[in-house]
Amino acid sequence: MTAHILDGKKLAAEIRVEVKKGVAEMKATTGTVPGLAVVLVGDNPASKVYVGQKEKACLEAGFASFLHRLPASTPQGELLGLIERLNGDPSVHGILVQLPLPPQIDPDMVIAAIKPEKDVDGFHPVNVGRLMAGLPCCEPCTPKGIMRLLEETGLPIEGKEAVIIGRSNIVGKPVALMLLSKSATVTICHSKTRDLATHARRADILVAAIGKPRFVTADMVKEGAVVIDVGINRLDEGLVGDVDYGPVSEKASWITPVPGGVGPMTIAMLLENTLHQARKPEA
Ligand code: GUN
Repeated sequence: MTAHILDGKKLAAEIRVEVKKGVAEMKATTGTVPGLAVVLVGDNPASKVYVGQKEKACLEAGFASFLHRLPASTPQGELLGLIERLNGDPSVHGILVQLPLPPQIDPDMVIAAIKPEKDVDGFHPVNVGRLMAGLPCCEPCTPKGIMRLLEETGLPIEGKEAVIIGRSNIVGKPVALMLLSKSATVTICHSKTRDLATHARRADILVAAIGKPRFVTADMVKEGAVVIDVGINRLDEGLVGDVDYGPVSEKASWITPVPGGVGPMTIAMLLENTLHQARKPEA
């Protein structure tokens, strides 16, 4: 079998057109321009790229973009002070603090300081708890983008074996909850999992989010599986996913490319979340 490509770039572009329309409509009817504040502390090269992409997408969608670049030496108190100001700023509907943060700053403190109504990343404990409980919440962008890509296949999720490789708070755990809420049978594998390949081979839906280039090889994939590659590994040869794309695409029914799969969807979901929060009266 040769896999169909799940084109995240194309789907994200369509979603961004819809968001842009929503922004224009909001401006016309209420005079409000949705605003997103992005905070970058330090100069992690990958973070700089992601933040640049987020700002560009924001401006293209017609949002007000407030970019705060702080030096790597920024004390935690100063960052918390900025968040406090953004929490109280009515022109800011979404706040995103790019992770990772420098070692003197506790990311949990920072995430908890963001007003849950402005937490467009869906990382605040209130949003995490609501996701866990199956209540309406701001869903984290990458897992939400993965679920949209799965919808694109037209295949049902109910009753399927979903295996996630990676247990991060940003991807592995939330995508597990979202797949569970769609009645998949979910397994989370991680660095201490014994015989990971055996778990992976059972998967109808296989999500690779471990940050190891080409970790998922063809022998770990069931014929006809849907394979979602969340990895973005920067090698000398260029960007490489967590999946050994060539051989795996000969076995999978659907597969996301890297680049052009999950990555663009994360940004599209961020825009959607921000517009959604801006539409809420309490934001
Ligand atoms: N670092 C890597 N992914 C993300 C993300 O989705 N949001 C934030 N804030 N930081 C990240």
